[in-house]
Amino acid sequence: YGGAGARGLVEPGTRAWLDRPPGRAPLWSSVDLRDGNQALANPMDLRRKREMFDLLVRLGFKDIEVGYPSASEAEFAFVRHLVTGGHIPDDVTITVFTSARQELIDRTFEAVRGADRAMVHLCHATACLWREVVFRMTPSEVMALARQSAQHMVRLADRAGGDIRFEYSPETFNVTEPEFALEIANTVAEIVEASPERPLTLNLPSTVEMHAPHVFADQVERMHRNLERRDGIILSVHPHNDRGTAVAAAEYALAAGADRVEGTLFGNGERTGNVCLVTLALNLLSRGIDPQLDLSDIPAIRRTVEECNEMPVPDRHPYAGDLVFTAFSGTHQDAIAKGLRHLEDRAAAAGVPAAQLPWDVPYLPIDPRDIGRSYEAIIRVNSQSGKGGIAHVLRSRWGLDLPQELRVELAGVIQRLTDVTAAEVEPGLIWDTFRAEYCDMG
Ligand code: KIV
Ligand code: ZN
Repeated sequence: YGGAGARGLVEPGTRAWLDRPPGRAPLWSSVDLRDGNQALANPMDLRRKREMFDLLVRLGFKDIEVGYPSASEAEFAFVRHLVTGGHIPDDVTITVFTSARQELIDRTFEAVRGADRAMVHLCHATACLWREVVFRMTPSEVMALARQSAQHMVRLADRAGGDIRFEYSPETFNVTEPEFALEIANTVAEIVEASPERPLTLNLPSTVEMHAPHVFADQVERMHRNLERRDGIILSVHPHNDRGTAVAAAEYALAAGADRVEGTLFGNGERTGNVCLVTLALNLLSRGIDPQLDLSDIPAIRRTVEECNEMPVPDRHPYAGDLVFTAFSGTHQDAIAKGLRHLEDRAAAAGVPAAQLPWDVPYLPIDPRDIGRSYEAIIRVNSQSGKGGIAHVLRSRWGLDLPQELRVELAGVIQRLTDVTAAEVEPGLIWDTFRAEYCDMG
C-alpha cells in the first residue's frame, strides 16, 4: 500500500476534537442496498431490496443509497421500481452510485429519470496503488477524470430537471496523499458549485481500514479545516471495519468535523463490513443523545435485516446480539439483580415508573427495554451462576422473593444439578426444582 500512513504523509490536525465529543446525531446514510448488497453471496432480489428499503424508511433514514444502477439490470430495475412506483417518501432522498465513466453516468441518470429528488454518487479511487496498478494513470490523469466526470454530471443534471444533488467519493481516501485528496475534492466542489443551498456531499471512505481511528480522524480534520467551500460541503465518512475499529473511527471522525456517516445496519458490507450504524446510534443513545433513528424494536429490525441479507447477527453483536444483555456468571448476576432492585426501590419511593429514572444498573450499558428487549433473558443460569441470579429468575418470572437462607440452599441444589449436566438450567427447571424441594413435600 502506498499513500498516507505508509509514507508518513498523515499530518496530524490540531486534535481539538479530543476535547469535543459530538453532542448531536450526525446525518445518517444507509448503504445497505449498495455496499451491503454487493458483499452478499446472494444479492437481494427485488422483494428483499424493497423490504430493506421500507425498513430503512421506517427507521427514519432520510438518505438511502439504493444501488449501483449501471452495474446490472436488477440494480437498474430496483431504482426504476422505486422512482416510478412512487415508493419514495417526500422527505427521503435516494442516492444512486456510479463509477467515473461517461456511459455509466448516463445510465445512472436514466435510472433516476422522473424522480423529484435524487443524489448521484460519483466515485473513483485516488490512491497511488490504484492509480499506478489498477488504472495506470498519473495523478493529473486521475484529476482530469474527476473533472470530466463531474462536468458530465452537472450537464446531465441541468438537462434532467428535478432536484439532483451530487455526492463525490475519492475512494481509497484514507491511503491517498492528503494534498491530492484535498485538491481533487476542491476541484469537484468547484465544478458542481457547492454552496449552502446546494451542498456537495463529500464522502471520505476508509475503503480498506488501514490506520488507527485517531489517524483517520486527523485525515478528516485536515479536510474539514482546509476545504475551500467548506460551508457548501456535507462532510461524510464511510469507514470500513478491516481493523475492527470502524465504530471508533466514525466517532472520532465526527468529533473531528464530519457531518455525516455512511454505513449499514449491523455492519454488513465488503470484507469485515461497513461501520455498524445501529452500534453508532445506540452509543449516542447510551450517552443521552437522541440518535434520530427509531431503534426502539431491535429484535424486529434484526429479523428483517437477517432475512434480507440472509446472514445472522452474531450473539455478541453490540446491543443486538442474543447474549449481550445476559449474564451467566454469579458476580455479574448478583450485581445486576441488586441494580435492578435498587432501581425499582427508587422508582417506588419517587412514585414514578422505573423507566423514567436515569438508567444506572451494573454491567448493563443501556436499559434493554429502550430497544425493545426485555429483562427476562438478562440472567441465565448455568454452572457459573450464583444465588443472586437464581433468586432473580424466581423473582422476575414468578414474583417469588426468597429469603437469604433459602437462596443459599437452592443455589446449592442447582449447583449439584449443573455439576452433573454441565448444561444451562432453563427458568422452568429452576421453578420445578424449587417446587420439588420446598413445596411438594406433602
Ligand atoms: O468503501 C468504499 O470506498 C466505497 C466507495 C465506493 C464509496 O464503498
Ligand atoms: Zn464501502
